[in-house]
Amino acid sequence: MKEVEVGVSVLDADFTQMEKELEKIKTADWLHLDIMDGHFVPNLSFGPPVITAWTGRTSLPSEAHLMVDDPERFLPAFFQTGVSRIIIHAESTAHLYRLVQMIKAEGIEPGVALNPATPLDFLDYVLPELSLVLLMTVIPGYGGQSLIPGMLNKITALKRVLTQKGIECRIGVDGGINQETASLVTSAGADFLITGTYVMKSPVPAEQILSLKKLKVGRA
Ligand code: DX5
Ligand code: ZN
Repeated sequence: MKEVEVGVSVLDADFTQMEKELEKIKTADWLHLDIMDGHFVPNLSFGPPVITAWTGRTSLPSEAHLMVDDPERFLPAFFQTGVSRIIIHAESTAHLYRLVQMIKAEGIEPGVALNPATPLDFLDYVLPELSLVLLMTVIPGYGGQSLIPGMLNKITALKRVLTQKGIECRIGVDGGINQETASLVTSAGADFLITGTYVMKSPVPAEQILSLKKLKVGRA
């Protein structure tokens, strides 16, 4: 049985101390960078120049989670930031298939995120092109929210679809992940977890990361 992977969101890091903040999460599997435009979500975060500064100061791989309308406007700038994965929201573009191909053409791994209310069948025709799907377990926009319990069934349903179709694609979850909810989502079938405040606001971040990483996919 596989251990889960853990990406840490720095959305709620102390931005005045970024070198220290990156150091304290160095045992994570990757850095998760939440990009918000004030339109797709009601919050603003940071953009490509800031990301480039951070990717240059960590040995961890990085992924950009784009919570922006019309992400095609920004993709070329993100291609220059050093991220190894770009996740776009299915709801944010009329041309999901094309954007996935654009990201792949740069040698960057594409991922697609779904808001809590978006049905899984939205992805039917693009799933074979993906190696990961990120299911939002909160309404995107802010860290520190509680996981929406109904999302557990969505994880299980996606796992079933992937198995039935014989598609190799990892399921990630983002939002409200702590030790308790991590057990629930991994039992439901999540392969990787994105966690923010649970780790960043902890006095013992390395211990929190380790305890999440010990969980096994498909078992509490
Ligand atoms: C929510 C972001 C998440 C968030 C996670 O819009 O996509 O990555 O920062 O933070 P927690 O783990 O605190 O919910
Ligand atoms: Zn995120």
